[in-house]
Amino acid sequence: MKILAIESSCDETSVAITEKRRVLSNVVATQIAEHKLYGGVVPEIASRRHTEAITGVCREAIRQANISYDDIDAVAVTFAPGLIGALLVGVNFAKGLAASLSVPLIPVHHLRSHIAANYIGSDLKPPFLCLTVSGGNTIITEVKDYTSFNPIGGTKDDAAGECFDKVARTLGLSYPGGVTLDKIATAPDEKRYPLPIPHTEGKYDFSFSGLKTAAINLIHNCSQKNEEIDVPVLCATLRHRVAEILTDKTITAAKDLGYSTIALAGGVSANSELRKLLSAACEENGITLYKPELKYCGDNAAMVGVGGYYEYLSGNIGTLDLNAAATMPINYR
Ligand code: KG4
Repeated sequence: MKILAIESSCDETSVAITEKRRVLSNVVATQIAEHKLYGGVVPEIASRRHTEAITGVCREAIRQANISYDDIDAVAVTFAPGLIGALLVGVNFAKGLAASLSVPLIPVHHLRSHIAANYIGSDLKPPFLCLTVSGGNTIITEVKDYTSFNPIGGTKDDAAGECFDKVARTLGLSYPGGVTLDKIATAPDEKRYPLPIPHTEGKYDFSFSGLKTAAINLIHNCSQKNEEIDVPVLCATLRHRVAEILTDKTITAAKDLGYSTIALAGGVSANSELRKLLSAACEENGITLYKPELKYCGDNAAMVGVGGYYEYLSGNIGTLDLNAAATMPINYR
């Protein structure tokens, strides 16, 4: 079964052709260079660029997969959550394509697709516990089956990626800040740059807003005193603190709930310190860890196609009145 999958939830226009867990093509047109000028994603610009890019990206995905439109058995699309104008471009394109080809339309939840990135080229099967960390979400989910999810904890304020991006912007680093911060970070120094460990009521919940503010205040204090900041060391200290918090809570949840398999997902799953700390903690606790390949960590349509395949098997088929939604819980139905 060949699926043409579409992703347009934020600043990447992507179309992929997938077959079960296999990726035949995955074309991504990124808008990062343009949003960089503004220090963050400008939603209106994102929607316009998706509109301009989507037809060409779709053609290229079909060309690279060496198939024709007649070979497509279903169209999968990210319908929520994300930037509403951006999502609408993908959803409407998908509806038109599915209707004209007379094939099923499969709505795919963005966070579910990030989790599905772990199925690409791997033998991972539910049940497992998944830590999904992106620019807008930080959530621990029990993946009970391919389309059955139980969120057990999440951020009460900022997402981990948002914390990285905002501190990086204050340091004058280029967008997307998390990526730049990870690249230039050296060794952490917690004595020089003490950063708090946030307290949360829920055992598996997160809070990154206080940590973000503490880092930003530290930067402002230094500049008021004309003290030079060692940017690579501060980046490494923040990166380590965030990775430590994410790792500790995820391992605690896995041990409490008896999971011997953990998966990591979302844009921040590319973070080198998080990958390192979580790998080491899993090894120490006899837990098997699955991490997506770096090219499938950020937004891409391959993960939408693979996740969409399982949604299709479970009967989650959309109709032509499918709408996009800016917010949607992962366990929607
Ligand atoms: O999942 P994603 O591509 O988009 C959504 O938010 O859905 O995640 C983007 C986030 C941004 O905050 C970006 O700074 C962060 O992922 N990110 C990273 C790294 N790569 C991407 N943060 C830290 N280290 C990285 N290597």
